[in-house]
Amino acid sequence: MTGNLSLCFQRPSARLISPDKAVIAASELPAQLPPNTIVIKVDRFGFSANNITYQALGEEPHFRYYDFHPAPETNETSPKTHGLVPVWGFGTVVASSHPKISSGELIYGYLAPSRYLVVPVSPSDVNKHAFYVPRPHLPADRRPYNQIIRCAADPEYTPGTLGEDLTMLYRPLFWTAYWFEDWIFSLGYRGATAFLISSASAKTAFCTAYLIAQRRSRGEAKVKIIGLTSKRNVAFTKGLSLYDEVVQYDSFPSALGREKWVYVDVAGNDDLNKRVFEHFETPASGELVSSIALGMTTMTPTSDKASTFDWGATKSAAQGPQLERFFMPEWLNVRKHQLSLSEIFQRQKRAWAALMVDCVPWVRLEHVSGPEQVKKAYDNIASSGFSPDVGYIWSLWDETGKGVGAKL
Ligand SMILES: NC(=O)c1ccc[n+]([C@@H]2O[C@H](COP(=O)([O-])OP(=O)(O)OC[C@H]3O[C@@H](n4cnc5c(N)ncnc54)[C@H](OP(=O)(O)O)[C@@H]3O)[C@@H](O)[C@H]2O)c1
Repeated sequence: MTGNLSLCFQRPSARLISPDKAVIAASELPAQLPPNTIVIKVDRFGFSANNITYQALGEEPHFRYYDFHPAPETNETSPKTHGLVPVWGFGTVVASSHPKISSGELIYGYLAPSRYLVVPVSPSDVNKHAFYVPRPHLPADRRPYNQIIRCAADPEYTPGTLGEDLTMLYRPLFWTAYWFEDWIFSLGYRGATAFLISSASAKTAFCTAYLIAQRRSRGEAKVKIIGLTSKRNVAFTKGLSLYDEVVQYDSFPSALGREKWVYVDVAGNDDLNKRVFEHFETPASGELVSSIALGMTTMTPTSDKASTFDWGATKSAAQGPQLERFFMPEWLNVRKHQLSLSEIFQRQKRAWAALMVDCVPWVRLEHVSGPEQVKKAYDNIASSGFSPDVGYIWSLWDETGKGVGAKL
């Protein structure tokens, strides 16, 4: 193993030049591993607005995304001044002092944008499917982020470069969409006859539309699905054919009919939300039966907070008069009492298999390899935003690793 390289960002609290300035930090790996510790070679990872949200909320007290992977201690960086934005990716265990984990194992999890990641692993919290990174400094409900999945026993593992790439892009977003749709369907869609989804070009949003449309095609629901998006993303969003109608933010609300609406807010844009809620105050606009906050794509790396929405609430109770929060772990806990674990696994397996076929044409995959190239790709996104038709797959290695058997 050689030294490590990591893509680091300044913590806003460090009050350095600018929190969106990325730096590649070079550090050493420990000469000797403490007990129950592994070194993961981070082969490659996906990057989307979800990661920008992690970055923007890196120091936000409820989320603390910068406290999952400490930044390296170097001349330029330290855990106090810098943060590592968590990323979902594939890696290979290349060294282990843990008796139940061996070198060579392929894993998937909540990794860091670096070449290597050194993490402790709980001595007892290890099973055939996964093991866990103990993070006692973070709240217990972060457990899903601490899980590292063992691909050899993962029913969702889709082998091959394409399968792995699509997994990195969709897995973190699709399950939010899936369990959100399951939750609102369990409430009879609250009597809605139509869904209005903001940031409709975002993967979280269009996966939600996809799942509602599937429900409809099975004859279990009868609702319209309308996407709200920015002017530049209208063509892409229409091209997905996942929405019945796509409406530009600027022309909202002209194209809307008189329905019972569920509003799914993926944009987290206060100005847009104000317009949406004002529109539905008029009885002629139909009725807003439910509004749920699901994302914050409006956030930029330097956002203090894109929305006044109170993310700090721990329960999915109504937020003020309008927005409600969907909290996936809470709903999954309810489902675990209603359905057997094997039923949940079967449902997930079916949904995932369908997604892995259906999602192939949705976005074009773009691979970027090498530290400077990844830094440049990040800088482009920080200054110009995401192209929704691109699935970004990055690696700090000069050539993208292929997961299984990737060379050191
Ligand atoms: N609640 C949860 O547990 C959970 C789980 C997963 C994801 N999420 C959240 O869902 C959101 C969507 O994530 P994603 O990864 O699905 O997004 P994505 O596919 O990367 O979508 C990016 C979209 O963001 C919008 N956008 C807003 N400001 C932009 C700008 N300055 N430049 C370019 N695009 C901009 C655009 O959509 P429009 O033009 O259509 O607005 C763009 O297409 C994130 O906030 C993420 O954190 C939440």
